[in-house]
Amino acid sequence: EIVEAGGQVLLPGFVDLHTHLREPGREDTETIETGSAAAALGGYTAVFAMANTDPVADNAVIVDHVWRRGQEVGLVDVHPVGAVTVGLKGEKLAELGTMAKSQAQVKVFSDDGLCVADPLLMRRALEYSTALDVVIAQHAEEPRLTVGAQAHEGERAARLGYTGWPAAAEESIVARDCLLARHANARLHVCHVSTSGTADVLAWAKDRGTKVSAEVTPHHLLLTDERLATYDPVNKVNPPLRTESDAEKLRTALAEGVIDCVATDHAPHAVQDKDTEWSAARPGMLGLQTALSIVAETMVRTGLLDWRGVARVMSERPAEIGNLADQGRPIAVGEPANLTLVDPDAEWTVRGAELASIAANTPYEGMRLPGVVTATLLRGRLTARDGKVC
Ligand code: NCD
Ligand code: ZN
Ligand code: ZN
Ligand code: ZN
Repeated sequence: EIVEAGGQVLLPGFVDLHTHLREPGREDTETIETGSAAAALGGYTAVFAMANTDPVADNAVIVDHVWRRGQEVGLVDVHPVGAVTVGLKGEKLAELGTMAKSQAQVKVFSDDGLCVADPLLMRRALEYSTALDVVIAQHAEEPRLTVGAQAHEGERAARLGYTGWPAAAEESIVARDCLLARHANARLHVCHVSTSGTADVLAWAKDRGTKVSAEVTPHHLLLTDERLATYDPVNKVNPPLRTESDAEKLRTALAEGVIDCVATDHAPHAVQDKDTEWSAARPGMLGLQTALSIVAETMVRTGLLDWRGVARVMSERPAEIGNLADQGRPIAVGEPANLTLVDPDAEWTVRGAELASIAANTPYEGMRLPGVVTATLLRGRLTARDGKVC
């Protein structure tokens, strides 16, 4: 089949280091099949499936199941993330080595949904990861500083009477983990950076040679705590939407490489878990099918990144961080390619009900966005074309 690509941008297939596919456990909100469709339509050729499933992906049986199911569906490479600790309460290290050597060959370990709070456990996880040559991706929030927190700690949360979630809850853990990673000579990846202070900590740690990488979500690049005024829990997310000056700093940090890449933190939730009062609503928002457009809006239209830069933050860097040899790089002649074709001038209107995910919790409902993914190819085979899964 010939794909007409005049006037379009050809990019290496996108790689998402942070996707919640909800299987096993919450197949009412997303499955590996529906999430893979959303990924292909969003231009992704590889996703890392987060470990906070039910049961938690803390052993080889579960990570292998996720890996095999991804292969069966065949729309995107699904790389399971292994949990750092057993269960989500995290008092004991999981068998990282068993998961790293399993069929799934787990390359990234995280407890997303809960950070590794105990510094001794984190130190041991980092030391173990160095021996295995895998990466620990820390969900960076000091849990005791976020008890009951509902929104970014600041004027707006105070006015609404919400317990605040301070920037220091994130920054203190990131600083601690950078120091521990340097001590263990380990690779640390920081999930969903949300504050300007975290960007400063990362710049400091990188300057002194720490092997740390970091991701920012599309929603933290675009949205701010101004959204609190809507009272709509679709805007509730971990970490919370911060201030405009935080978002501005995150955009610059991404452009300058202090933050390495964009990751969606695609977090599907059922209607009954979102369409409720703010305090009871689950945190998280959909991201796979809107990521490219939000990056086009916040980074390309503003002149902060050109399309070469988009390839770097959406594909090359995440592939390097996640140790994927066959993604995010130029291909040799004759080699089956992972590619995404984008029409940079086209626009589309987001409708949650029309997205491939079972859940519909997009914060961009009704928004008109630039950048349309017109084709995705996984190893030379079309997985999505003109808004339809192949
Ligand atoms: C995540 C989820 O729904 O799994 N939600 C989110 O707001 N990012 C869990 C988490 O990261 O806390
Ligand atoms: Zn998280
Ligand atoms: Zn959290
Ligand atoms: Zn997450």
